[in-house]
Amino acid sequence: MKNIILIGFMGCGKTSVGKRLAQTLECDFLDTDELIEKEQGRSISEIFATDGEGVFREMETQCLKNLLQKDDSGFVLSVGGGLPIREVNRELLKKLGDVILLHVTPDVVYKRLRNDKTRPLLQDKNPRGRIVDLMNARKTFYEDAATHVVEVSDRSFEEIVREILNINRKEQP
Ligand code: S3P
Repeated sequence: MKNIILIGFMGCGKTSVGKRLAQTLECDFLDTDELIEKEQGRSISEIFATDGEGVFREMETQCLKNLLQKDDSGFVLSVGGGLPIREVNRELLKKLGDVILLHVTPDVVYKRLRNDKTRPLLQDKNPRGRIVDLMNARKTFYEDAATHVVEVSDRSFEEIVREILNINRKEQP
């Protein structure tokens, strides 16, 4: 199978959709945040607090490069919401497989993440405004990185998974 890469804003469902896809396809599920936390032995929040966002973005690029070296293909990968903002990352993503953008509205993200404490970029007095601003700033990067766009707001989990499986089936070499 061609690798499936899920991109999209925080809270769009990359992890839960990715895990279900991997279960159905009987392949590995990987997540860049998890790989970085494991490698660093500390949480994303700690990395942001100690080293800053720039260092974290470097770690994301290195993580993609490591994944490209993996000779066994056939995995579902979920990447951090800000990873596609770097051009080098967008190029690496396309080399890795089908890049599926899970498109979500700011309202859905706000409802899901308003009490979340694990996303350093959303620890703001006005999280809703922050979500809207970040989404606007990232829109073109997401669209540029994606090979396919799947709408997730107001759709069932099953529908989303089915649509991605269909895309992946059609893309087989
Ligand atoms: C970030 C998204 C997070 C995580 C970090 C930064 C972002 O991942 O990488 O907090 O810049 O959007 P999720 O998209 O999995 O929440």
